[in-house]
This record gives sequence, structure tokens and C-alpha cells, in this order.
Amino acid sequence: MQLPEACDFVVFGGTGDLALRKLLPALYQCDLEDRLPAEARVVAVSRSELDDEGYRAEVRRALSEHVASEYQDLAAVERLLSRLHHVTLDVEDDHDWHTLFGVLKDRPDAESTIRVFYLAVAPSLFGPICRHLGSGGMADAPARVVLEKPIGHDLASARAVNDVVGEVFDESQIFRIDHYLGKESVQNLLVTRFANTFLEPLWNSHSIDHVQITVAETLGVGARADYYDRAGALHDMVQNHLLQLLCLVAMEPPIEIGGGREDVRDEKLKVLQALKPMSPEDIDRDTVRGRYASGWVGGEPVAGYLEELATAGSPADSLTETFVALRTEVQNWRWAGVPFYLRTGKRLDRRTSEIVVVFKDAPYDPFRQREGITEPNRLTIRVQPEEGMRIHLNAKEPGPGGYRLKPVSLDLSYASAFDKRSPDAYERLLMDVIRGNMTLFMRRDEVEAAWAWCEPILRHWETTALPPKTYPAGTAGPTASFTLIERDGRSWQES
Ligand code: BG6
Repeated sequence: MQLPEACDFVVFGGTGDLALRKLLPALYQCDLEDRLPAEARVVAVSRSELDDEGYRAEVRRALSEHVASEYQDLAAVERLLSRLHHVTLDVEDDHDWHTLFGVLKDRPDAESTIRVFYLAVAPSLFGPICRHLGSGGMADAPARVVLEKPIGHDLASARAVNDVVGEVFDESQIFRIDHYLGKESVQNLLVTRFANTFLEPLWNSHSIDHVQITVAETLGVGARADYYDRAGALHDMVQNHLLQLLCLVAMEPPIEIGGGREDVRDEKLKVLQALKPMSPEDIDRDTVRGRYASGWVGGEPVAGYLEELATAGSPADSLTETFVALRTEVQNWRWAGVPFYLRTGKRLDRRTSEIVVVFKDAPYDPFRQREGITEPNRLTIRVQPEEGMRIHLNAKEPGPGGYRLKPVSLDLSYASAFDKRSPDAYERLLMDVIRGNMTLFMRRDEVEAAWAWCEPILRHWETTALPPKTYPAGTAGPTASFTLIERDGRSWQES
């Protein structure tokens, strides 16, 4: 897709954490590598009483903090700063908007310039912002709107958010971000599956025993306690990132990837629709909720979740989970009977995101007299850190006399295979918005299908009102998450 000559990138929440920590550094990196449209401007909108110079000073500070030192380039920083403008605006106030509209109209060919409206603000503000953009004549194509999660907190509220935005913007203009889809290794999963032939004949219930998806974090909720306590791990991570990863593992081959077509999103939707609905009994048996207590992470003592909440002034009777493990199935021809085990949590012993595909045992073992052990074949896709892939095989240990077998691995590290910087997810996604490529964004029906599957779990947890199981910070999660998989005769695989 063609890069336009000109673009106005408007960030609502321009002084917020996401803008300063992620969006501006990503735009900087794109500009440094000459990937931004020549005539790009960035218009930050916030309630802060800042003029352009004041905002530029804030961004200068943010870039020095959030851009790696080897990419700090004075000329490139100045170039990005010269593109920046700040508009002070209370988006809930009907009268303030003319300044923003004035800035957007004040450029050559303003009417044909691509306008991107990035809503890095609370979802309750999506409605007022979209309505004002619509009534100000700013929402017509080629305008685009980018929505950050959370998109709702259940199916009805997700629909309400989508309706409110959909009153003003057509679905073809709405980019719902899931930043996991912008990660290099996640895109590479598509390439691994669909640009190679050796996996496809094995990629089904005949050869695959089960799939594990783990997203483990060492960070706690810290300053986000207020948001997090209303969300929890299922809402914050499973409903979006983990289910998106599951979709990419389980989807059928699309006709085309990119090229302005809907094939990838169509196929992902089918996976979400094929997830086995959970009854209350399934939920009791197949899900585990956990919450971290105080412990040690990276050699430092850290507070428990409830203590963090108390420090943040939030109510101490919280039942919110900071860890989820669950077992599900994709009910279709390819995957019938193959369990997908998902787990994610905060304040765990290590930061890692990976997908492990565990193959079935060989149907027959001719090495009956062997020594040593064998393990099932596994394909591990490491999303982060140290992106790469590992295939676990059994091999003969060199030596005379008989067969001594041993599991070994074939390793692909992207860092050593490609001597290239791995861009941050936001770089790829922001450029896709500017180009109008929607493949890596969630469509309305996907978000709603993911909520339709998650909502019964949330409702059942609310009804039973049991506290999550405690795990000490710095461990691998509650014991029950091990029981969940071990009772099926399987175990969590660490790469
Ligand atoms: C965000 C969640 O979407 O993803 C956070 O709201 C989480 O709670 C983050 O920490 C994880 O992203 P990453 O890229 O650091 O794995």
C-alpha cells in the first residue's frame, strides 16, 4: 500500500503515558528511518496548558528516556519536534474544538490529507470525541480512527463502544489496536505457518497433542492499580492478546495476507467462533484465577497486589485476578480434541511470552532396547524476549554400542539470523494505519466474538465471588495452574 505524501497524526491523550512512552518514540524511529510521509504533522491534544514549544520540551525529554541510546540522533529529534503541535482541549467541552479544527485545516491540500485520530484516552471519551469530529466534518474518508483497548468490559459495553464510534466512522476507517499483532515474532508466526510447507501436514489433531500459550510478566500493576482492579487478567490479557495469539496458531490459511483484503481477519473470526463455550462446570474445572502476594522478583522484595491497591487508595476487598490459566478447545475439523492451555500473570518469576506446540508421541517405538530418554517433539515460538523459534527433537548421543537417546533442540534466534533491529510493535502498527492496511487490527466482530466467549467466565467468577488463589510474587503462579494441566497427563513446558 502506498505511503501518502501528507498526514496529520492527531493523538488524543497526547501528554499521557502511552503517547510519551510508546507512540512518540515509535513515530521518532519511523522518522529517523525516513518512513514517515514527508509532510507528516503530529498534533497532540490534551487538557494541559501547553503551547507547541512546551509540548516539544516534554517530548524531547520522553525521547531521551524511551529511545535506545544508539538511535538518539539530534537532527532526527529536531525534525520530529518540528512536526509537533499541541492543542489544549477538554474534549467534553463543546466549545473548545475550533482551535483543533483550525490547525487541521491550516495546511495545503487539507481536505485530501490523511488524518489519523488516535484515541489514547479512556473509552468513555470515545463517544464525545467521535461526535465532535463528525460534526466538525473531520471524519470523512480518508480520515481514520485508532482505538486503544480496553474496548468495553463485556459484550454489551464493547458493542456500545463500537456503536458510538460506528455512528461517525465506517468500519473501514476504524483501527482497533492489539499491540501483540504488531510484534515481529507474532507476524513471523504467519510466515512460519504460511510460507513453509513442512508444518502444514502436521498442523492438526492427528499430529498435535496440545498447544500452550504463556504470557508471563515480572511487573506488578504499580501505578495502574485503579484501571487494573476494574479489569483483571482475563480482561486485560486473555480477551485480547492471548486469544489473538491462539487465532494465529489455529486459523486456516488465508487467501492473501495484507493487500487490503479481509482474509486474515475472516479466518481469525472463525477460530473465535469455534472456541468451546464454557458451562459453569467447565469454568470451575478448566480455569484458575490467581493473585500475587508479596515476594521477591529479581532479588528485590515486592509488595502483594492487595498492598499495592491499598497504597493506591483502592478498596481492599478486591477479588480481581492477576493470573489466569485455562484450558479450551477449538471445535472444528482441524482441532477437534486438541486442548489449548493459556496462562498469563503478573509478578511471575520471569518475563516471557511463548507458544509451545507439543506433538504426539511416535506411534511406535522401535528403540526398545535404548538407554536415555525421549520427549515429544515440540515447536516453541518465543514471542519475547529474544524472539526466535526452537524445534525439540530426539537424537542419538554419539558413542559406540546401542542407542542412547537424548532430547536436543534446533534454535533460531532472530537477533543472530538477521543482523537488524527488531522494531517496536507500535512502529509497524502506526505505519499500517497511515497506509490504511487493516490486516493487523481487530475488526468489530472479532472483538465482540472474543467477549462473547469470555463473558460467561467473568459472570461465573462474579457469581461465585471466590477470592483468587494466592501465589507469592516471583513464582510461576498458583499451584492450581499446574494441577490444571497435570491432571491431563501433561505439563507446562519451559523453553
Ligand atoms: C497491555 C496490558 O495490553 O499489555 C498490560 O494492559 C501488559 O497489563 C501489557 O503489561 C504487556 O505487553 P508487553 O508488550 O509488555 O508484553
